[in-house]
Amino acid sequence: MADLKTYNDRMLSLGLARVSEAAAIASAKMIGRGDEKAADQAAVDAMRTQLNLLDIAGVVVIGEGERDEAPMLYIGEEVGTGNGPGVDIALDPLEGTTLTAKDMPNALAVIAMGPRGSMLHAPDVYMDKLAIGPGFVKDIVTLDMSPSQRVEVLAKAKGCHPSQISVCVLERPRHSEMIAELRETGCAIRLITDGDVAGVIHTAEAAKTGIDMYMGAGGAPEGVLAAAALKCMGGQIQGRLLFRNDDERGRAHKAGITDLDKIYTRDEMVTEDVIFAATGVTDGSILSGARRDGDFMETETLLMRSKTGSVRRLYYRQNNN
Ligand code: FBP
Repeated sequence: MADLKTYNDRMLSLGLARVSEAAAIASAKMIGRGDEKAADQAAVDAMRTQLNLLDIAGVVVIGEGERDEAPMLYIGEEVGTGNGPGVDIALDPLEGTTLTAKDMPNALAVIAMGPRGSMLHAPDVYMDKLAIGPGFVKDIVTLDMSPSQRVEVLAKAKGCHPSQISVCVLERPRHSEMIAELRETGCAIRLITDGDVAGVIHTAEAAKTGIDMYMGAGGAPEGVLAAAALKCMGGQIQGRLLFRNDDERGRAHKAGITDLDKIYTRDEMVTEDVIFAATGVTDGSILSGARRDGDFMETETLLMRSKTGSVRRLYYRQNNN
């Protein structure tokens, strides 16, 4: 019999799906209600309750924030029953609070788990990100290339014209120059208002989503979660932390980061095999949203293990009475 302290990712994975399902179902009640905070709180409460039922000695390494600013699922919080393997956890109970409040696509409940020390303790700052799906030579596109160069190189690798490349970008004023440069190449741009974990995941299923590449600055914690997803699905992501002031640089030092200009590859953000679960909250192009059907709640979850590259889509239904 396997030692209870052994990290058995196969056995733990279904438990992880239950955690993201619970968060999605809880926040689904707040879809379209215009209240980001309440939607987030519902997801956090449900995720924490479900996480604490798992037989793990877990520590949150990517969470809701520093201990003094987040009462629950803060960075460093110990989760699980304590009777099980020591694991690190990266989570975002509701990735896309505004998407949920406004009933817009691609809000997700997200969680990743791996052995201790397996995920970069990314501070809560921005990260410049670049991601493509599987099947390309390593580092074929890099953060050091200009946005237009990335499009041209990827088009050449795919054997198509740049106009047939589709890039996903967060619609923010900070990206206006990048967007203008991308437009010059003739590529298509899918502008999203929030939710760059989903944005990155889109690249791993390009045929289905129509997205070849993701680029731009978003949250660093979300970058690590996206790296965990691509480690399971295949695909490349690079990330460079961005600092706006000394406070943000201080956060990096506190997290043990000394090289502030480093470009992290996927496998530097997620150094060992992980499991990853994402449940749809609102309907989107990678997952259906959590929905009520009569007396039942239904969800769809992406459940993945990087060790085997297994990708499962789980349909779940629960009686809501
Ligand atoms: P929340 O769910 O916490 O609101 O974050 C959504 C998100 O869009 C992330 O996906 C993204 O990484 C980040 O916010 C971008 O930050 P900003 O809104 O400051 O540009």
